[in-house]
Amino acid sequence: MEPINLSDYERAAQEKLPPEIYDYYAGGANDEMTVQENRSAYSRIRLQYRVLRDVSRRSLATAVLDHPLSLPILIAPTAFHCLAHPEGELATARAAARAGTIMIASMAATTAVEEVAQASAAIPGAPRPWLQLYILPDRGFTTEMVRRAEAAGCGALVLTVDSPVFGQRERDIRHRFHELPNGLSLANFTAAGGARPPQLEFKADLTWQDVSWLRATTNLPILLKGIVHPADACLALAHGADGVIVSNHGGRQLDTAVATIEVLPEIVDAVAGRLPILVDGGVRRGTDVLKALALGAAAVAIGRPVLWGLAVAGEAGVSSVLELLRRELDLAMALCGCASIEEINRELLRL
Ligand code: FNR
Ligand code: LAC
Repeated sequence: MEPINLSDYERAAQEKLPPEIYDYYAGGANDEMTVQENRSAYSRIRLQYRVLRDVSRRSLATAVLDHPLSLPILIAPTAFHCLAHPEGELATARAAARAGTIMIASMAATTAVEEVAQASAAIPGAPRPWLQLYILPDRGFTTEMVRRAEAAGCGALVLTVDSPVFGQRERDIRHRFHELPNGLSLANFTAAGGARPPQLEFKADLTWQDVSWLRATTNLPILLKGIVHPADACLALAHGADGVIVSNHGGRQLDTAVATIEVLPEIVDAVAGRLPILVDGGVRRGTDVLKALALGAAAVAIGRPVLWGLAVAGEAGVSSVLELLRRELDLAMALCGCASIEEINRELLRL
């Protein structure tokens, strides 16, 4: 049966993928409470819609950091797309480009950033991809990654700050899923010249000084991803960040961490319009997107649903996931009395 929503895509992907790969994608840290909480926090928010507002002509178009988007939904960085489909990140990049949105390519991708950028540049009018970056203990390699992102034409860097160490993903431990299967590699690492770190190694001594270092290293816009505390959002601003992605890494790092949609309002209030705020984690329905925007997010990002689409049907599957969510958001807006993204506000919510 044709999937008609994002959960259908998850079920279809689960049937198709080997269990250890499905579990690597689906899983979270420890008891996966935060994975669940990211979802259930959305369902606790009720919509108090408005009526009689002429919603016959609607637009979902918006912009983030002056990058125009056809819808307020980006693709969150997720590792290893070639585990889901042989075309991997290239399929995802094309689907994002055709949908008129931004793919945030993971540094832990199975396709090098240059190829991802080329695949999206081949589609006329496509927004440029962004590169998600981990600052590694190897500063030289990290700098080289920044230069490669600049040269490839990436539109921004997304520095992930919630991972000084790896979370404990118990599904992976049980499957002994520790390395990439035959033929796949961390392409950004193997594509680099010279002696390179063979694997992704996190930097446990990462601090705000590293953010200042990155700020001084590049003119690309920098967004900090993995912030859940308003004080950290203010520090991000003070350290020259251009945006914040409220994220708990899809519940894969610290279990029992707060749901992202729950902390979004206090971060939006603390930042008070000085930076665009994005949010990810548990966005599965058009109403979720509408709730995030109503709470002040400039846009949302989706992680796992993209992998489900990719596993089921490659590029067409990712396109379908984006289009399903686009249609649901459009419907939710119509039924809430909103003809444009700017009309979505907190008045529509009963928290
Ligand atoms: C991730 N995420 C992630 N984040 C990041 O900054 N770099 C990365 O390489 C990855 N890799 C990754 C792999 C997989 C399989 C998942 C599920 C997630 C986190 C990701 O960007 C995002 O924060 C969450 O996926 C958002 O939650 P949802 O939409 O998956 O619920
Ligand atoms: C993950 C890492 C790669 O969440 O960010 O699997």
